[in-house]
Amino acid sequence: MAASPDHPQVLPAEFHARPGFLFGASTSAHQTEGNNTSSDWWGLERTAGGGGFLEAPSGDAVDSFHRWPQDMDLLAELGFNSYRFGIEWARVEPEQGRVSRAAVEHYRAMVRGARERGLTPVVTLHHFTSPHWFTARGGWLAPDSAELFARYAETALDILDGRVEYVATINEPNMIALMATIVRGLVGGDGPAADRLDADRLDGGREGVAATAATVVPDAAVTEALIRAHRSATAVLKAADPGLRVGWTVANQVYQPEPGAEAVATAHAWPREDVFLDAARGDDWVGVQSYTRTRIGPDGPLPVPDEAERTITGWEFYPEAVGHAVRHTASVVGPDVPILVTENGIATADDERRVAYTTGALEALAETMRDGIDVRGYLHWSAVDNYEWGSYTPTFGLIAVDRDTFARTAKPSARWLGALARELRPATAPTAH
Ligand code: BGC
Repeated sequence: MAASPDHPQVLPAEFHARPGFLFGASTSAHQTEGNNTSSDWWGLERTAGGGGFLEAPSGDAVDSFHRWPQDMDLLAELGFNSYRFGIEWARVEPEQGRVSRAAVEHYRAMVRGARERGLTPVVTLHHFTSPHWFTARGGWLAPDSAELFARYAETALDILDGRVEYVATINEPNMIALMATIVRGLVGGDGPAADRLDADRLDGGREGVAATAATVVPDAAVTEALIRAHRSATAVLKAADPGLRVGWTVANQVYQPEPGAEAVATAHAWPREDVFLDAARGDDWVGVQSYTRTRIGPDGPLPVPDEAERTITGWEFYPEAVGHAVRHTASVVGPDVPILVTENGIATADDERRVAYTTGALEALAETMRDGIDVRGYLHWSAVDNYEWGSYTPTFGLIAVDRDTFARTAKPSARWLGALARELRPATAPTAH
């Protein structure tokens, strides 16, 4: 990346003022590993592939199941000091009650591998995908879902192995509850969606689904079940390993009211975001995941204006979003819950725009720290181009992946961001907590 006055060549001072600040990148298991055949998403991809909102099945994804050492080598070489990755419940417990010791050993090696490379692991236990058996018996709405999830968390202790500090129980519970409503609307009735999905009804593609998502309300029963599952898993994890810092991550849409629409925005935010942040008030940390904003008028969400720059996902290019998301999160969870930005990034084929976006995001984040908000980390989404829930077209990665050879190539944005991150690396030598 050529030196440019628009792209900082040093990290804003606020990041240095927080010893141990985590500066890295994120992935999830299903989006990168490939062949997650025991998961509910694998079933959904088989049913819907080619006919509806899923353009493509995940297939081999980017083969990180085998290539994770390479991914971690690259992140460490680039200068990052942290890596957020997921462990896959469907691999750890492919059949109800049967733990795959091989899968447990696989993820234990990843945790060790991260530490050996000076990458502080931030481990997600659940990132949208569940084992097929779990969904087939009613998913989160089954009466014992919290207990089953807590049991999985207990198994995961073996993977965390006293070497992990930050654990996220559930990624974006608000999106899970929202998807529950959408899927029910698309397929009708109860029971596992993958078995009943009628591809012909999923017209409108990604944009159709996104437009629906802006208006529907997350399923209230799924919301309650997710909060119960989070609390049960947190209790199990902390009882066994008091050194763990347990939280969950929430998708922040940065609801911005037009004049006069303040009450509408507040009412809109509660079931979609704030109920999940409110549930994090007693947690060790909360994850902020932010990409863009949603302007709210008197009748609800407004479309992105025609003149606005959009990313591949159709979202408005709005780097300041993360600053608003952090401030909003802090206002709901209160001053005692530290914040990690666990996702922030942009789907673009123009890597210069990724640098411009991230420059704005880091500046907005620095301002929140200047104002005293307790931000402890920035984990860019994503480390690598990956499977974007139905398509490989939106490229969020700092690192490109050849879809035939799986060869990894760091983009200029990765070198630029890694160079900034490197300023913090000496402060976080490999350690166990
Ligand atoms: C999810 C990721 C996803 C990203 C970009 C977040 O909602 O946690 O899995 O890839 O946003 O859409």
